[in-house]
Amino acid sequence: MATPDPISTSRELSGPPDGSSSSAVLEGYAHSVMNTFGPPKRVFVRGEGCYVWDADGRRYLDLLAGIAVNALGHAHPTVLSAITGQIATLGHVSNFFATPAQVALASRLTTMTGADDGRVFFTNSGTEANEAGFKITRMTGRTKIISTEGAFHGRSMGSLALTHNPKYREPFVPLPGEVIFVPYGDADALAAATSEDVAAVVLEPIQGENGIVMPPPGYLRTARQICDQHGALLWMDEVQTGMGRTGSWLVHVEEGIRADIITLAKGLGNGFPIGACLATGPAARLLGPGSHGSTFGGNPVAAIAGLAVIAVIERDDLLSHVTAMGEHLETTIDQLGHPLITGVRGRGLLRGITFAEPVAAAVADAALDAGFIVNAPRPDVLRIVPPLVITTAQLDTFVAALPGLIDRTGEAA
Ligand SMILES: Cc1ncc(COP(=O)(O)O)c(C=O)c1O
Repeated sequence: MATPDPISTSRELSGPPDGSSSSAVLEGYAHSVMNTFGPPKRVFVRGEGCYVWDADGRRYLDLLAGIAVNALGHAHPTVLSAITGQIATLGHVSNFFATPAQVALASRLTTMTGADDGRVFFTNSGTEANEAGFKITRMTGRTKIISTEGAFHGRSMGSLALTHNPKYREPFVPLPGEVIFVPYGDADALAAATSEDVAAVVLEPIQGENGIVMPPPGYLRTARQICDQHGALLWMDEVQTGMGRTGSWLVHVEEGIRADIITLAKGLGNGFPIGACLATGPAARLLGPGSHGSTFGGNPVAAIAGLAVIAVIERDDLLSHVTAMGEHLETTIDQLGHPLITGVRGRGLLRGITFAEPVAAAVADAALDAGFIVNAPRPDVLRIVPPLVITTAQLDTFVAALPGLIDRTGEAA
């Protein structure tokens, strides 16, 4: 495949299909991109709202949103004008200097925690936000961290140490320690494992990568009490659950709990790479000059993207919309009464459709062929994390197609 000239063809590369076929791009991918994700299923060239188009001109309803990232959908005009306006004015200055956008976003995010003494360290991803969180825990003078079975916190060496999946971990041991894994949602196991030498307990309020696993009611509150009893930090990884995905800014704040460390990313920049490690109380002051850093973290373009996302979510009352859409999806899927569907779990627009058999990957493939993007984080769970702006009519097209997609997997078997 001929190498595109980024200057003369930048519009074509990011714009509508120009006749360049998917197969040529996929061939180039196989030759030049490391094979960490397996072969790409499609080549996408354009997005608008809740739809994306592939290089062959086919349209897809995006119910995955770049894995819970494109909160406002694709090419949102407010985000676009904020980013282009900022980069046309001041694109980057390094962390020797401050910018108004960075400070405004830090202040807006700390307000979300409900604490008045919060501070932020900006990063470019959820993994890096968790690396910052990890370093904060080390500054307590304790080294033990409690994580949970099924947890996903990223794949850098530090965040991988907190991630449970042995397939991801084992090739890379030894990982930074000492991390102990307890069953997720089991408050007694958490209490039994926590002692005076535990620096922090790290929890996803809902486990996303593990298949949208909800803890029992009261679990997060009990975790807070256990941490208080032992002087341990409570660390909420809201990378997937935060920024409106579940119908509130932050799940733990909605449940009336204070966290010492909160990590964010995904929906925060609507696709512009940005993450944040927030801390409250004494934990907010544990990192000092020289103890952590980032060249790009807090970049004004990323920060303005975050501010634009928050402003639109507020202006368009999207938190209530998310709750309504999540309930609509759950009700309409339940009404299908399909024998293989065992339920819909999750909150807001962080949803998992569960199956009685391990058909989720086959359903996701059939869905893609039919023009719907979803994924299967577990063999029996289909994840639905669409843009927060999705409509009932758009969700209904998927729900109407779902029985046929499931039945097609039976035919293929
Ligand atoms: C809960 C959670 N934490 C951390 C991460 C890692 O974030 P990133 O992929 O932005 O590095 C993810 C990604 O799926 C996640 O779901």
